[in-house]
Amino acid sequence: MSLPSLFDLSGQRILVTGAASGIGLAISEAMLEAGAEVIMSDLDAELLGVELNRLQPHYSKAKGSPLDVSDTAAVDGLVDALAAQPGGIDCVFANAGMSAGRGFLVDAGRLENVEMAAWDRVLRVNLDGVLTTMRAASRHMKPRGRGRIVVTSSIAGLRAEALSGYAYVASKAAVNNLVRQAAVELAPFNVLVNAIAPGPFATGINGGRLRLPESVERMRSYIPLGRIAQPQEIQGLALLLASAASSYMTGAIIPIDGGASAR
Ligand SMILES: NC(=O)c1ccc[n+]([C@@H]2O[C@H](COP(=O)([O-])OP(=O)(O)OC[C@H]3O[C@@H](n4cnc5c(N)ncnc54)[C@H](O)[C@@H]3O)[C@@H](O)[C@H]2O)c1
Repeated sequence: MSLPSLFDLSGQRILVTGAASGIGLAISEAMLEAGAEVIMSDLDAELLGVELNRLQPHYSKAKGSPLDVSDTAAVDGLVDALAAQPGGIDCVFANAGMSAGRGFLVDAGRLENVEMAAWDRVLRVNLDGVLTTMRAASRHMKPRGRGRIVVTSSIAGLRAEALSGYAYVASKAAVNNLVRQAAVELAPFNVLVNAIAPGPFATGINGGRLRLPESVERMRSYIPLGRIAQPQEIQGLALLLASAASSYMTGAIIPIDGGASAR
């Protein structure tokens, strides 16, 4: 296989959850550019429509479907429908996720103030939503003997993270071990399961806080590379994990964090 063809996704069908904004949108654009058909799904149907209108004139293979990943039947329904199409489903990015607000440096983020309703909501989206997306994909990929599942985790799932809420760090730590567990189970079926663990990216998460000048300033000392990442900086790693270039990688949780987790 020639080196450029290692990253060629022509003929592939890829589902991305949480695709209307930030990291999921950047992943979708990378997959389209590499030649894949991309089904962009998101809870925010209006924003999804805006992005599809922007992308479709350039990429005829950009498709869209509203989806709430906390709705298990809807996740199963969408994945089953895609898998039933000719060529099936080659890769799924379980990317949709939400913030649990700020960490313990503010009152509301302290352990004694964790609110169970908010905890349940974050776990339902960030953990159950990832599990059900992986589960639905595996049902089709396993019998087929190939497939890729890529989860967007976080460096907040690798170690304590003062800036993130309890439900968030718990959900991301949990998905990291879901990825390892599924990677080992599915390896004999040539279904590769990996996670991207971003540090701070300037996206819409948490009301767009990471786009604010005060966050940019705070992160300057916190991140060895001295800045917050732009969403496009996820694209190289996403392309690697979806493509033939990562044929010997599974069960990996890969930080992409400007060096933050190396401290
Ligand atoms: N931005 C960061 O600094 C950062 C760092 C580490 C990990 N992450 C993770 O990256 C992923 C993407 O987040 P982002 O930063 O791009 O944020 P974002 O808010 O820009 O994008 C998230 C998208 O997911 C969608 N979404 C939310 N809940 C959903 C649901 N229940 N069903 C379907 N879609 C839903 C939102 O509508 C939004 O379009 C998340 O899993 C997040 O935890 C982000």
